[in-house]
Amino acid sequence: MSKSGIFTSSLAKKYWMALTGLFLITFLVGHLLGNLQLITKTGEEGRRAFNEYAYFMGHNIFIKILAYVTYFSILAHACIGLYLAVQNKKARPQNYAYNRPGTNSGAASRYMAILGTIILVFICTHMANFWYKQKVAETVPLHVLHKEITEEQQNPMTGQTIKQVIPIDYVLTTKGDYMPFAYVDPQSQQKMELMDVKEGTHLYDKKAELQVGEGYRDLHTVVMNFFGQSEQGQPTNEWALVAVILYVVSMFVLMFHLWHGFASSFQSLGLNHKKYNGIITFTGKAFAIVVPLLFAIIPVMIYLNR
Ligand code: HEM
Repeated sequence: MSKSGIFTSSLAKKYWMALTGLFLITFLVGHLLGNLQLITKTGEEGRRAFNEYAYFMGHNIFIKILAYVTYFSILAHACIGLYLAVQNKKARPQNYAYNRPGTNSGAASRYMAILGTIILVFICTHMANFWYKQKVAETVPLHVLHKEITEEQQNPMTGQTIKQVIPIDYVLTTKGDYMPFAYVDPQSQQKMELMDVKEGTHLYDKKAELQVGEGYRDLHTVVMNFFGQSEQGQPTNEWALVAVILYVVSMFVLMFHLWHGFASSFQSLGLNHKKYNGIITFTGKAFAIVVPLLFAIIPVMIYLNR
């Protein structure tokens, strides 16, 4: 194969499809394990675990490199896949595959391009809803814990003890501690802020104007609200049910795409041997069912527990 053939021959394109596809399959496993925390852990512990996880994913250098490989793989897989689909269509002007479906490699194979395009649309809207809020938007609330402390004070005139309930917001910092962020002044009933937030997460002492730490974006609350669960006083998405249905439908599409794609990528790489083909096909089909199903359960559970 010539130097340019490594990238441009149709065999090379199939290799790239397979390599990027297999990489995206491993991405799905990692992403699923991270997201399952949304339904397996509850309360403040669950919120903290998920927000710390999301922060780690955005700050660990190794994960950052993997993230860029993921973006590249999505783009390359989509572009080459569409190109190959167009070339295939041109090579079969009479729509051979549709007219004689029995002679082709099954429904999933014929619809791979259209399924892939739907998944691409899903990924774009999905990243606009979550990835953008974690990485770019500066309007996402920080991980704040609301608490009430009771203070006892003695009235110097009467000697009577008065109990005062003071609502305090604590911000969770990346050092792992909760720092007082704001409180309601019992006399004036006004909210007093102790910190300024700059660049979305940097915490500055209001008086000293010194950076005192970094907070976490509350991505957990963003996801929960998106799928209809009211958390931290934030408004829930009024379209939550529609979002849940669209996620479930998209996971069905992903299921069909993987049903064919998993085993097919091994074939394209020439990794087919009589001895292993059965196990590869079985693993591919089990993966195609289990992974999208678990992904789909997440928004459904969040919605049902609202
Ligand atoms: C239904 C369950 C899912 C939930 C709750 C979910 C949640 C999230 C969240 C919260 C983020 C932002 C995290 C961050 O950037 O640190 C994210 C990013 C992302 N999601 Fe999902 N996701 C789900 C399913 C999927 C599926 C099925 C795919 C692919 C087909 C996918 C592809 C992506 C990609 C490519 C990113 C960007 C990752 C990165 O920047 O490294 N997600 N998802």
